[in-house]
Amino acid sequence: MDKKKILTLNKIAKVGLDRFGDSYTVGDFVENPDGIMVRSAAMHDMDLPESLLAIARAGAGVNNIPIDKCTQQGICVFNTPGANANAVKELVIAALFLSSRRVIPGVEWAKTLKGNGAEVGKMVEKGKSQFVGPEIKGKKLGVIGLGAIGVLVANTAYSLGMEVLGYDPYLSIDAAWSLSRHTQHAASLDEIYAECDYITVHVPLNNETKHTFNADSIAKMKDGVRLINFSRGELADTQAIISAVSTGKVGCYVVDFPSDDLLGVDGIIAIPHLGASTPESEDNCAVMAADQLSRYLKYGIIKNSVNLPELDCGRVEDRRICVIHRNIPNLIATLSGILSGEGINIENMLSKSRGEYAYTVLDFAGDLPDAAIDAMKKVDGVIRVRVI
Ligand code: MLT
Repeated sequence: MDKKKILTLNKIAKVGLDRFGDSYTVGDFVENPDGIMVRSAAMHDMDLPESLLAIARAGAGVNNIPIDKCTQQGICVFNTPGANANAVKELVIAALFLSSRRVIPGVEWAKTLKGNGAEVGKMVEKGKSQFVGPEIKGKKLGVIGLGAIGVLVANTAYSLGMEVLGYDPYLSIDAAWSLSRHTQHAASLDEIYAECDYITVHVPLNNETKHTFNADSIAKMKDGVRLINFSRGELADTQAIISAVSTGKVGCYVVDFPSDDLLGVDGIIAIPHLGASTPESEDNCAVMAADQLSRYLKYGIIKNSVNLPELDCGRVEDRRICVIHRNIPNLIATLSGILSGEGINIENMLSKSRGEYAYTVLDFAGDLPDAAIDAMKKVDGVIRVRVI
């Protein structure tokens, strides 16, 4: 059997790549890949080869991947929700402290005292009052987005003595089970803006969430509010942030996505995208991405896809046809009609839809004539047919 081919577009932790084993060729220069493993490499201008069945993003954000184009070409895109959540949470908690206690400017100032010998101690005691900042205990934190990261941040902030107000109109059942019962429910973003001393955002970037922090939303916030963004830079309108920081309306903005205009501005802490940069999280993401990708390539199982429905069809008993198609009437009946026309019995059939698209898996025994596969490919609304 031919080896499956995996193209890596970024450096992926070895422990993840090792999951593929001997039946795969994995590398940076693989041609006609079945799958791609990627971290933050920009894929929007890349030609997606005909051979490509799936892309696994080792991380949460998928804004570097052309999702609509992938769906239209029948390419399943996975991400690894939760795999780096603890790493990001830890740095968000650090950001809460850094936004409050003026540790970074204080450390910079302390460096300027070098060369003052025995005087340094006295100079420190005299100058330190310029770096006073409040404690987080007893303050109110707004968490916008209660996915894997938002939930961990909310729970940890509560355990540090903060009052926590959470907002998420799309809260999943898993997140609801994990969320501390002490998190108060905000019915609207305006409630978060009006009440919170600190606001952290944990949502994917899309048309709805772009510039969540903007001049209008900032105007509704408390004076001196501290804002934290470890999700994507474009969730904030940087010009609005810069001007609000200059007036003191925003006390501090901590962002994990530096842009030129944010660098060197007083009151803005720009961290070089370190949220998930821990060995633990890089390993977790790589392993999860590799497992999801190889289960899809081998068996057609879909878990944690951002563009196709979840479907756990188990291992292949005999033969399997996987069909990605539009979610339209009569299509599944037409597919099964083609098989029965060939005298083939369908042993198992599973189908799930997600918005305009659907995924159907048909298990059967015996031979399948090429003509039947060609007929399936020609059915109106069918995007991709794959036989395993
Ligand atoms: C993510 O989207 O998972 C984080 O921003 C970290 C990363 O890009 O790897």
